[in-house]
Amino acid sequence: MNIHIFFFSLTVLFISPIKNLCNLLYAVSSNLDVLWKQLPTLFCNFLYKDEDVRPFPNKLMRPKSEEELLMERTKGYWRNAALNTIADKLRQRMNFNTAKNVIFFLGDGMSVPTITATRVYMGGEEKSLAFETFPYTGLSKTYCVDHQTADSACSATAYLTGVKANLGTIGVTAAVNLKNCTAMNQRENQLDSIAKLFQLQGRRTGLVTTTRVTHATPAGLYAHTADRHWETDTDVSTLNGDVTDCEDIAHQLVFGKTGQQLNVILGGGRRGFLPREVIDEQGNSGVRSDGLNLIEEWIKFRENHNQSYQYIWNRDQLLNIQNGTDYLLGLFQSSHMNYNKERNTETQPSLEEMTEAAIKVLDKQNSSGYFLLVEGGRIDMAHHYTWAHKALDETAEFSKAIQRAVEITNEENTLIVVTADHAHTMSFSGYAARGSDVFGYAGMGTDKLPYTILTYANGPGYRPPNDEGRRYVPLPEDINEIQYQWPSVAPMEKESHGADDVTVYAQGPWSHLFTGVMEQNVIPHLISLAACVSTDIECEETDTKAP
Ligand SMILES: *[C@@H]1O[C@H](CO)[C@@H](O)[C@H](O)[C@H]1NC(C)=O
Ligand SMILES: *[C@@H]1O[C@H](CO)[C@@H](O)[C@H](O)[C@H]1NC(C)=O
Ligand SMILES: *[C@@H]1O[C@H](CO)[C@@H](O)[C@H](O)[C@H]1NC(C)=O
Ligand SMILES: *[C@@H]1O[C@H](CO)[C@@H](O)[C@H](O)[C@H]1NC(C)=O
Ligand SMILES: [Zn+2]
Repeated sequence: MNIHIFFFSLTVLFISPIKNLCNLLYAVSSNLDVLWKQLPTLFCNFLYKDEDVRPFPNKLMRPKSEEELLMERTKGYWRNAALNTIADKLRQRMNFNTAKNVIFFLGDGMSVPTITATRVYMGGEEKSLAFETFPYTGLSKTYCVDHQTADSACSATAYLTGVKANLGTIGVTAAVNLKNCTAMNQRENQLDSIAKLFQLQGRRTGLVTTTRVTHATPAGLYAHTADRHWETDTDVSTLNGDVTDCEDIAHQLVFGKTGQQLNVILGGGRRGFLPREVIDEQGNSGVRSDGLNLIEEWIKFRENHNQSYQYIWNRDQLLNIQNGTDYLLGLFQSSHMNYNKERNTETQPSLEEMTEAAIKVLDKQNSSGYFLLVEGGRIDMAHHYTWAHKALDETAEFSKAIQRAVEITNEENTLIVVTADHAHTMSFSGYAARGSDVFGYAGMGTDKLPYTILTYANGPGYRPPNDEGRRYVPLPEDINEIQYQWPSVAPMEKESHGADDVTVYAQGPWSHLFTGVMEQNVIPHLISLAACVSTDIECEETDTKAP
């Protein structure tokens, strides 16, 4: 008998079934205690070649102590926890004060699975993000006028102006089709944002974002455009717009009526404010073709109007804002700000630090209050590249910013709303053991190969099966990489948004109205009512008694 055939038969007869048994052992043991997890490693490891994929046991995060986990096995533990929650709910009183201040937190692309997975990332399934303890919660339907799934532009128009629009357009009605300048310039098609309504009452307004300040979400506060990508005059001319007719977004921020009155503008995107010939503080050149230096123009306007102002570009300056600054422009990067995991923590501020600085400038003694938009803008961008680690880390940063805002404001007079603009396609699935690292394996497929807890419906994380037709499965060293692109079912250059509803959380005056399943465009109408800036709904100013 040929020796090769002999070994081949041996493999088929014995090794294969043993390997299957081992695969099963691995899968079962990944749900057991650490000790038992060693079993398959001890008895089965010799069967595998280095390149073989096997159902590696997950790292355990074990946020809870053994004693706490034992408590969870008793009925008293769960009943007491439930009764405490009920006691909290019974203590809850509706707040009918006029909201002096409103802080609107927008997690770009912060879908429900993103929030759930971030709890585990932050230390355990039972953990809560800062906004998850807010008393009132609702769902928001995010579709836009011409598409089932929203982008950040039509979505920003809905939750900041109260009117739904077409995909890719900002601050204009759905009478404006994508890229139609003539239609975008018609006054009757332009929409006032919630910030504009605050400004009309002489109240302060501001925006904070981790993206370029001319990106879709912040632009929803101050711009009217038929194309979200017209961020600079150069973009307008390269993306078949007419520069003489279509005003770019950066220009609208500095010269537009609403943009001009914003007290706080913090984020990235410096290049859109500078001409090509100008090199910025960090050595990057501008991108404008019209020769305008919009930072200088912004300063000139403040001086002409005798306003106290500061232009800043790094973290040190942000942490040392002079008292009495009424207008603050902070541009911390040439393009978007870096992901938190990749930022230089000495020079680039965190979202939390920017939020705190913004509130300091907006919250002036004896003033009539403010509206602030804070965007965690890079949750979305991380998802587009199926970088799940970064998406969850950005969500954790977003939560920290909200935590800080809750600490330094007063629930009696400040309405805080937290929501997302649209979902993403990341799913959180399978039956991994309690306390498993969320960047781990969920179980075994019918192909006897493990699958990960996190997967995407589409995106650049797609890899074809190997030559033997075996499904791609990442190795533990792959999925521990912050830069790892998670598996996707359909190959796409960039992962798409999801169409599912997103959550809305609220605390403070009139937060009890932010409940049920609502159209996304209802949100700013509710804020207008709470802050008494509505032009459609009558409201009475009530004394909040709070400082
Ligand atoms: C652009 O909008 C204008 C004004 O609403 C309209 O007359 C024109 O037909 C539109 N152009 C296109 C290409 O849709
Ligand atoms: C500008 O403001 C300062 C301080 O409020 C004031 O002393 C000064 O007269 C003002 N100047 C002009 C030109 O209005
Ligand atoms: C700014 O104001 C705060 C609070 O009023 C005060 O504690 C602080 O010393 C002031 N800082 C400067 C530099 O004036
Ligand atoms: C605030 O208002 C009170 C009462 O109207 C006044 O006494 C106080 O000086 C004001 N403070 C500031 C900083 O304007
Ligand atoms: Zn997106």
